[in-house]
Amino acid sequence: MLSKDYIELENKYGAHNYHPLDVVIAKGEGVWVWDVEGKKYLDFLSAYSAVNQGHCHPKIVKAMNDQAKTLTLTSRAFYNNVLGEYEKYITELFGYDKVLPMNTGVEGDETAVKLARRWGYDVKGIKKNEAKIIVANENFHGRTMMAVSASTDPDSYEGYGPFLPGFVKIPFNDIPALEKALEDPNVCAFMVEPIQGEAGVMVPDDGYLKKAEQLCKSKNVLLICDEVQTGLARTGKMLASDYENVRPDILILGKALSGGTMPVSAILADDDIMLTIKPGQHGSTFGGNPLACKVAIASLQVLVEEKLADNADKMGKYFRSEIQKMVDEFENVLLVRGKGLLNAVVIKPSKNGKTAWDVCVELKNNGVLAKPTHGDIIRFAPPLVIKKEEIDFAIGVIRKVLSEFN
Ligand SMILES: Cc1ncc(COP(=O)(O)O)c(C=O)c1O
Repeated sequence: MLSKDYIELENKYGAHNYHPLDVVIAKGEGVWVWDVEGKKYLDFLSAYSAVNQGHCHPKIVKAMNDQAKTLTLTSRAFYNNVLGEYEKYITELFGYDKVLPMNTGVEGDETAVKLARRWGYDVKGIKKNEAKIIVANENFHGRTMMAVSASTDPDSYEGYGPFLPGFVKIPFNDIPALEKALEDPNVCAFMVEPIQGEAGVMVPDDGYLKKAEQLCKSKNVLLICDEVQTGLARTGKMLASDYENVRPDILILGKALSGGTMPVSAILADDDIMLTIKPGQHGSTFGGNPLACKVAIASLQVLVEEKLADNADKMGKYFRSEIQKMVDEFENVLLVRGKGLLNAVVIKPSKNGKTAWDVCVELKNNGVLAKPTHGDIIRFAPPLVIKKEEIDFAIGVIRKVLSEFN
């Protein structure tokens, strides 16, 4: 079968809830992927930052294979001999009392919202069913009813009502708006991405997250950082909140927690918050399964052992400086922004109606895979194991494509 046959197959039998680029990937290794015809591409998306450790990282795959042969799932009806080891490892690594394991990123977010509400009632003393959570406009917390209820993007929420009440939406990177919203005594939490990835890699002003943390503390409101995309070395530090020495009350992780091998997410918090949820009050059949636990330990070890945050920082700075030259040179390249290896380039649509989508098609034809987010923004987020000569290859391709884009 050829690429077009696989595409036809998906179109015929799969729901049409995505619009992929026309490339059918059959194999991945490190920063590289190959299509079914054997053509090689540099992956500059990393499955939306899930493959930070590179495709099929040998250490993660080994941990997965070894555990898969031994025990994969017990459910939480019973104890298993791996969960505790994982819980100890991840809580010590991030410095929290407890972890609650889930699967997808959005389940981490759901869990954080439930936990914050629970804390709001049991500890803060908010009246039953009146808890509110502040979120930022243009957020992306996933696709469940909770997440789309919190969303301000019509593509996410339109046609799915009625929505979950209790979200207060304020502009991102706006401290006075946060201050005002925090006046409401029924607010139990402020949930925010340290950098808004899906919105187009929107980096807030220096000091924003620190100030938000201080304000939340002063109002007895929990700070929830959704680091599903920004966490795990992506932005050049283990957590994006580390840039401002912010310690969220609830930290949400996902994606690269498995190095892209399977859905693994988690929320971390201290006892006074986490222990408000009692046995039987929240859970998941697969959350904390031994396979996921072994995979997560290996995935975190790879980030630490291979110093991937440092590499993301170094390579990211180099990448942005090279792209900045194109911003200075080419009329249709408006700006580059980001931190570490979470970056975006904003394009001016061309006179003959070409957009960021057309740029991504040309990048693909030249061996680099990236995807537009919104009309005129291209996100560039390669695996963090990328080397300088691989960045140089991508820069060469991006330069060629952008120089011809007009
Ligand atoms: C910040 C953030 N939160 C949550 C999610 C949802 O993660 P998942 O798709 O694994 O449910 C994403 C996915 O892109 C994300 O970027």
